[in-house]
Amino acid sequence: MKFFIDTANLAQIKEANDFGILDGVTTNPSLMAKEGITGEENILKHYVDICNIVEGDVSAEVISTDFDGIIREGEALAKLHKNIVVKVPMIKDGIKAIKYFSKKGIKTNCTLVFSAGQAILAAKAGATYISPFLGRLDDISFDGIELIKQIVHIFRVQNYQTQILAASIRSPLHIVKCAEAGADVITSPLDSILALLKHPLTDIGLEKFIADHNKGKKISE
Ligand code: G3P
Repeated sequence: MKFFIDTANLAQIKEANDFGILDGVTTNPSLMAKEGITGEENILKHYVDICNIVEGDVSAEVISTDFDGIIREGEALAKLHKNIVVKVPMIKDGIKAIKYFSKKGIKTNCTLVFSAGQAILAAKAGATYISPFLGRLDDISFDGIELIKQIVHIFRVQNYQTQILAASIRSPLHIVKCAEAGADVITSPLDSILALLKHPLTDIGLEKFIADHNKGKKISE
């Protein structure tokens, strides 16, 4: 399972990249706004800055909701860097655009996926990735992990090549459950990735190993 970071924060992207486990980045307009990145020129520059940090796919989202606008924006984004993946919303014109981009060899990430039916349509159109938002489903009392399991099953049975990119991750347990379910990729905030490191017995065990090593040193001195 690949690990993407879901942020537009350059410091966090650098930290995850230095950690050595990062395979890519996803962003969205809300994450860009959170970092104070506004205006077309600044947003495009920020995508290039992200691509220069990470060797892996970087999702950049279109704002248009009509076919011509999505194509215009998507082609401009794809020209920015070879690793840009055009993030397209799950709407009718979005599916048409994904088909168009797929024929042109431009990578796409179909975003705002909340059902298996939507996932099937995006796969049929040739999306490189689909992004089911599991945390937002959990928020409204639907089981997000169950959706990931259902889509994994369908894509295996149907031999769809589209990668399942589990998004809207809220906890380290979400990451573990996605791995168990067979997601191809998770995209997560840095804190949930780093939380995977934590276990109290690891901390206690390490403290004891170091203390015992130091005792041994004192005896031999
Ligand atoms: O990038 C899309 C998705 O991961 C957003 O997550 O936490 O806003 O539901 P969240």
